[in-house]
Amino acid sequence: MLHNFGSINLDHVYQVPHLVRPGETLASHDYQVGLGGKGANQSLAVALAGGEVSHWGRLGRQDAWARDILARAGVNVTFTDLVDAPSGHAIIQVDERGENAILLFPGANHGFTATHIEALLDACAPGDWILAQNECSALPELLARAHQAEASLAFNPAPMSDAVAELPLARCDLLFVNRGEAAWLAGIAETASVEQLLSALHARLPGTATVLTLGSEGAWYQRGATRHYQPAPAVEAVDTTGAGDTFIGYFLARLQAGDAIPRCLEVATTAAALSVLRPGAAGSIPARDAVERALRDGLTGA
Ligand code: RIB
Repeated sequence: MLHNFGSINLDHVYQVPHLVRPGETLASHDYQVGLGGKGANQSLAVALAGGEVSHWGRLGRQDAWARDILARAGVNVTFTDLVDAPSGHAIIQVDERGENAILLFPGANHGFTATHIEALLDACAPGDWILAQNECSALPELLARAHQAEASLAFNPAPMSDAVAELPLARCDLLFVNRGEAAWLAGIAETASVEQLLSALHARLPGTATVLTLGSEGAWYQRGATRHYQPAPAVEAVDTTGAGDTFIGYFLARLQAGDAIPRCLEVATTAAALSVLRPGAAGSIPARDAVERALRDGLTGA
């Protein structure tokens, strides 16, 4: 089982001609509300990929529909609490090139305490995985105590911050980072080469495996001296929101199923490429049959 200690957001998505500039007032030409949050997106992706996932989350009581979406997809929502607090939400601008800018309000995602961490660790069985991102409170407690459970810990330090960079990340078994996050953690420029980024990450966290996602430039896996590279299928992106979450969910579901790392990377990059062809976050995550079809026939038939 994968226990995802993860955020749930209501995403307010605005289609804009360009990302709004400081001091500018800009009219959007489309607006939609949907399920999002890095945690919820990743749980949904695991479930759609056929994996077993329990989502540990907090959502405002009035927004139970968002939990229903997860449940219908096969996510175990026993530990997703409806609470008397506003749900987390995100204001997302998407421009004509599919690039985005995201403003977060953490809301109920910041109501987690050490008590929740204790319950999560108690629920873990040997061989389980715990997954977390940087959109919930109580992360210091999780990283400090995760080793008490006989589970492996995967962490996606997004959105990156000084506070998250100072967490005891060496306690993680697996880190998912994009270029910016890798550079921040490694303490080098974002323009550094992949070789420099991977080497610097290895020097800082020698016992932690890393997946470095590079969008259209593919993804790398590194564990000790072992490296694997997977190019990404070429696609015309409509909206890149949630692509990284789709990658993580599909990667972990295939890992859970016992696939070798190169296959996990291949499936995850294909799923992420499919997700950028559709707008939205959770709503853009492809179903498993679409991913299998794309792997078999190529993305033109997807
Ligand atoms: O990774 C995409 C997600 O980031 C969005 O769904 C938004 O809610 C923010 O958490």
